[in-house]
Order: sequence, then structure tokens, then C-alpha cells
Amino acid sequence: MPENHAPTTEATAPEALEVPEALEASEALEASEPLEARAAVPAPAVPAPARARREPMFPDGPAPDPAGSHHERRIRSFQPRRSRVTTGQGEALRRLWPKWGLDIDGLSKLDLGELFGDPRLPVVLEIGFGMGEATAKMAAADPGTGILACDVHTPGQGNLLNLAEQNGLDNVRVANGDAIILLREMLVPDALAGLRVYFPDPWPKKRHHKRRLIQPEFLALAATRIAPGGLLHCATDWEPYAEQMLEVLTASPDFENTQPDGGYAPRPEFRPLTRFEGQGLDKGHVVHDLLFRRRAA
Ligand SMILES: C[S@@+](CC[C@H](N)C(=O)[O-])C[C@H]1O[C@@H](n2cnc3c(N)ncnc32)[C@H](O)[C@@H]1O
Repeated sequence: MPENHAPTTEATAPEALEVPEALEASEALEASEPLEARAAVPAPAVPAPARARREPMFPDGPAPDPAGSHHERRIRSFQPRRSRVTTGQGEALRRLWPKWGLDIDGLSKLDLGELFGDPRLPVVLEIGFGMGEATAKMAAADPGTGILACDVHTPGQGNLLNLAEQNGLDNVRVANGDAIILLREMLVPDALAGLRVYFPDPWPKKRHHKRRLIQPEFLALAATRIAPGGLLHCATDWEPYAEQMLEVLTASPDFENTQPDGGYAPRPEFRPLTRFEGQGLDKGHVVHDLLFRRRAA
């Protein structure tokens, strides 16, 4: 298993297609550099020229690199990789993407009311849904909340679309691309009723810690998109990352801990066990939930 424990896909069927996720030639080069070297490269002062778009594997499905030249050179919390898409997942991507999918192209602001077909529906963003089983369960249990589920993992996008259709879940939308661009470029202030980050890649090696999603800069951005009173809910089975999360969340002026003792929260009933959580538990890891509330401005 890769060290950032990217989702495994059961797709080993001979008919499975292999697709690159958000991987471009320039990124492949970048990925071969040591991470420290990349960190030292300043962002370009002017936007990079438009990159050649690769032909999409699913013409009406998720784009391979939806934000294209809007990506600046910066460290990302996910690793571009090739992954296998089963026939069923590919079929769902072709058929259901136009209805429930959204490419994070960073080009325009999103009207979440329009996206979900209900201007009054509270919407939470889930970053990194993996294969989407937990997302589908949460959506089924709470049809009064819209879940904008974001990941770069193509098989998971197909899987979640299938689950949404099979279970008649009209309150899920699947966003393809980097959640940072979604938050920064496409969501308006206070757009979200909450934010969920379950078992983000732990990036266990010290030199990779800068890739972790939960950092002060991320929290400052997230705070502008979560409405006052909205919940930021994180969970991890990686103890050192849990400690980092608690430290940076506690230090954030924008969030307050819902726990009177200032510590971890019990797993709330609305969060089902996730696939990665199961793998962590099998290894004897202890799971921590963190439930913080966006302070009033
Ligand atoms: C370790 S998996 C956890 C999946 C799922 N939450 C679970 O518990 O089974 C983390 C996921 O986050 C996704 N991810 C990481 N950074 C992301 C980002 N900036 N935008 C979108 N997805 C991201 C990865 O692609 C990966 O699928």
C-alpha cells in the first residue's frame, strides 16, 4: 500500500480501465523531484500558460485535470496516480456525471442552491470521500442535508454515483478535483453548513508533513466558507496527525472546540465507519474525531 494510504480499488476485473487522476506531464516531472525541492520553488508571478488538455477517457464524465492552468505550483495533499475503473464505475461516470458531477475548474462561483435544486438546502462539503460508501450512508440518513463530495479518485467517483443512483440519493453531488480550488475559487463566503474531512492522507514521514491538509492556512480558508455556527468535523486513525489537528484547530481564532474539555470528541452517530477507518482499526489504531464550530465573525 502506498505510504499515503491512497484508497485501494477492488477493480481487478480484466475489463477495468486504467486512468490517470489529475496527472499531467509537468506534474509527473514535478513528482520525480524531492518534495523539499518543490517546496522551495516559489509560485510563478504570472499564471502559467494554458496546458494541453488530455483527451478525456469519459467524454461526458470527469475531466482529467479540471482546473488546468489554474493550478499553481504548490504542494498538494493528494498524490496523482493511475487507478483502475471497473466497467460499472465507468458506466456510472458516463451516464450520471452530467446529472450529478461537477468538475472543479476554478473558473466561476458555484450557486449551491442551483446545484442541488433547492436554495434552502444546507450543504456540507466532504473532502476526500474515497470510495464513497460512508458518504452514501450519511446522505441516506439525512436527506435534509446536501453533501458536496469532493475527491480526485476516479473509481470512487464512479462508485459514489452508482451508490447515489441505487439508493435514490438526490442530495449528493460529486466534485472532481482539488478541494482547495473548490474552496478558494468556487465557493462564496459562508456557503457551507459544515465541512467533513475523514481519514485524510496522513503523510507520515516528517518531510511530507507539509502535504497534510489540516494546516493553519487551510483552516483560515475553510473558515471563510463555513457559515458561523457550522461544524468542521475531522477524523483520523493516525495519532500524530490527530495531535497536529487538535493543536492547529485549538490555535485557530476561527473555530471553537465543541468539547468542554478541549479534547477529542466521541464519534457522532451521523458519521458511519469509513473504509480507511476499518483498515486502521484492523491494525489496532485508535480513531480520534475532532468536532469544532465556526465562531461568529
Ligand atoms: C485516505 S483517503 C480517505 C477516504 C475516505 N474518507 C475513507 O475514510 O475511507 C483520502 C482521500 O482524500 C483525497 N484527497 C486528498 N486531498 C484532496 C484534495 N485536496 N482534494 C480532493 N480530494 C483529496 C484522496 O484522493 C483520497 O481519496
